[in-house]
Order: sequence, then structure tokens, then C-alpha cells
Amino acid sequence: MNALAPRPPAPPLGMLCELTHRCPLQCPYCSNPVALERSHGELSTEEWLHVLSQARAMGVIHLHLSGGEPTVRRDLEVLIHHAASIGLYTNLITAGVLLDRARLERLVQAGLDHVQLSLQAAEPGLADRIAGYPGGHARKLAFAEMVTALDLPLTINAVMHRQNLDQLPAMIDLAVGLGARRLEVASVQYYGWAIANRGALMPGSDQLEALSGTVAAARERLKGVLTIDFVVPDYYARRPKPCMGGWARQFLNVTPTGKVLPCHAAETIPGLVFDTVRERPLAEIWHHSAAFNRFRGTAWMPEPCQSCDLREVDWGGCRCQALAVAGDAALTDPACELSPHHDRLRSLAEADSAAGLSEFNYRRFRKPAAADVV
Ligand code: SF4
Ligand code: FES
Repeated sequence: MNALAPRPPAPPLGMLCELTHRCPLQCPYCSNPVALERSHGELSTEEWLHVLSQARAMGVIHLHLSGGEPTVRRDLEVLIHHAASIGLYTNLITAGVLLDRARLERLVQAGLDHVQLSLQAAEPGLADRIAGYPGGHARKLAFAEMVTALDLPLTINAVMHRQNLDQLPAMIDLAVGLGARRLEVASVQYYGWAIANRGALMPGSDQLEALSGTVAAARERLKGVLTIDFVVPDYYARRPKPCMGGWARQFLNVTPTGKVLPCHAAETIPGLVFDTVRERPLAEIWHHSAAFNRFRGTAWMPEPCQSCDLREVDWGGCRCQALAVAGDAALTDPACELSPHHDRLRSLAEADSAAGLSEFNYRRFRKPAAADVV
């Protein structure tokens, strides 16, 4: 076989279902697209059940139920029950502000395996300002207690940026106090809403050094108590992350209206057409859709990736970041210091950090302004 010919794709391991884009929170770094999908177009219960069955038949093991806020869907119990019955491991990614104990118990009875809860900060006033939801932090803490009281494994998601970085030590203590088994310390990834808020979110390089030190010390101190995952920010990196484990290699994302994407930001890439589960079977989309095959493997890669020893390690980084910063999704991710656009990435980060804005452009249903569309 030609070394550059695409290999037949292995089945995906994980699927993220964005059940809805409705959400009571308005986080300024939301991973949903700037043009949010309205509720009237959402897949029905039957359509989601069919998606889950198709995914399991393809070999998917991990099901991430997300949004928006997935608990606004009244059929969540039905979806979880079906997923559990066909052998999918179910992870509920939630803001935790809408569920009471009775509904959480119903979800557990339906077969829910794991909960991932987002916290915006340790200090309630700041947390509520970032989420754009007064009283939300207190509700999240009460929800976390319900989760651990029911013996469900709990992961805390801490999305870090300039306005909450100094709270990381307190957030680590909070995660331990809440009984979480895992903490994901994730630097904001700059796509969609986060690009519209870059001047309010981008940390400085000195802050990030402190962040890395805090994580390293906490990992040592909390061995056996709390596992800490750490997503390093790309803007100050020397090599890119293997975004999504490589385009269309391990993972797929289904939007509320059934569009199937290789990553949550893929729709920002012009010229790609994404099939929906209403029009085409999931397996056919995974194997044969032009959008999934566009950046799969290594054959599409330009130099310097094409002749780089790391091309099957990081898969050329992130297509959406190449588009956002270098203007072309088919270029090497500018997070790589071998990219001719690497210096631009660093300058953007330094300029945004120095801008020192504090006001957020909150995630809301609205007609996007031209400047927001990336
Ligand atoms: Fe990765 Fe391409 Fe940079 Fe090599 S040149 S490290 S494959 S992004
Ligand atoms: Fe789309 Fe990285 S977010 S490839």
C-alpha cells in the first residue's frame, strides 16, 4: 500500500451527543457554535435512540451526553436507559443547576455511569459572573453532594483563563472536598465563543507557568486521592495537541439537529458539508463522508507535517485553529513552532492578554455579528 494512502478508518471509540443547545448558563468560552441550533429542530427521542443504537453497532463504547445543558431534555432518562441497555458507558456533562435529587436518582436507575460537572471558579461571585447565572455556583455545590451521595463517580471540569487562574488552588481543594475522583484543568480552547472573548480570557505566559507549577504540586500531593488532567494552552505551546486524537480517528460529535461532525468547531471550516443522521446512516457518514475524509490520516498534510516524525503523534494539530489563526484549515496548526504562522499565534496571545478586558460577550441565542463568525 502507498504509505500516504488513507488507511480504512477504525471505528470511533467515543461519541458526544449535544442533545440541545438550550442552557441556563452563558459561559463566554462555550464550545457550542456561535450560531446556536434552536430547539424546534432538535432530534426527537426516537431519532436519538436510533443514533445510539447505530453508534454501538459501529463499536462506540463511551457516550458523552452534553449540550448546551442536556438535562433540559425531558427524555434524558429514556436515552440513558437505552444506552445502558446496549452497553454504552454513559457520561453526563452538566452544569448541574437544574437537577433535583429525585431526577438524579431516576437517571441513576436508568443506568447513568458518570457525571462531569463544570465549575467556573471557587469564589461564588466570580463563578456566577463567568457563567452569567446568579446563584449557579451554590446550586452546583449542592448537586455535587447529591452525585457523591449516590456513589456516582464525579469529575469536575475547571476551564481556566485569565480571570480565574488565581483560583486554581482553591478549586483543587474544592474538588477534593466535594469528593470528586478526577479534575480536568482545561485551558480555554479558542474557537467560536472563546475567540469572541479572547481579550477577556487570554492569560499571560507568566500566569501559565504558575498554573503548570500548581498542577504539578497538586498531582504530587493528591496521589491516590484526585487524578488531575491538564490541558495545556495551545497559544504558548511549542507543539500542538493531537486535537480529538486526530481528525475522524476516534471520535464523533452529533449536534442537536443531527449533524455529524469530527469535532465541535468543524462547522467553522468553509467548504465542508456535514451530513445529518436524518439523511444518512451514521456508519456511512463515519466511513465515507467527504468532510470526515478531508483531514483523516496523513495524506492531506502539507509540509512541514508531511515529512515530520510526529505526524502520526499529533496528526498535524487542530484544523479549526489553523483556520482561525492562519486562515486555512489545511495548514499546519500554528501552535507548532515549525509552522510559519507560529509567531503570529504568540503575538495574538500576548496582545490579547495585555488588552486586559474584563467584560464578557456572553453565549446567547442571537443573530451572530459578522465579527463573531470564525
Ligand atoms: Fe506536528 Fe506537523 Fe508540527 Fe510535525 S510539523 S510537530 S506533524 S504539527
Ligand atoms: Fe476542530 Fe481541533 S477543534 S480540529
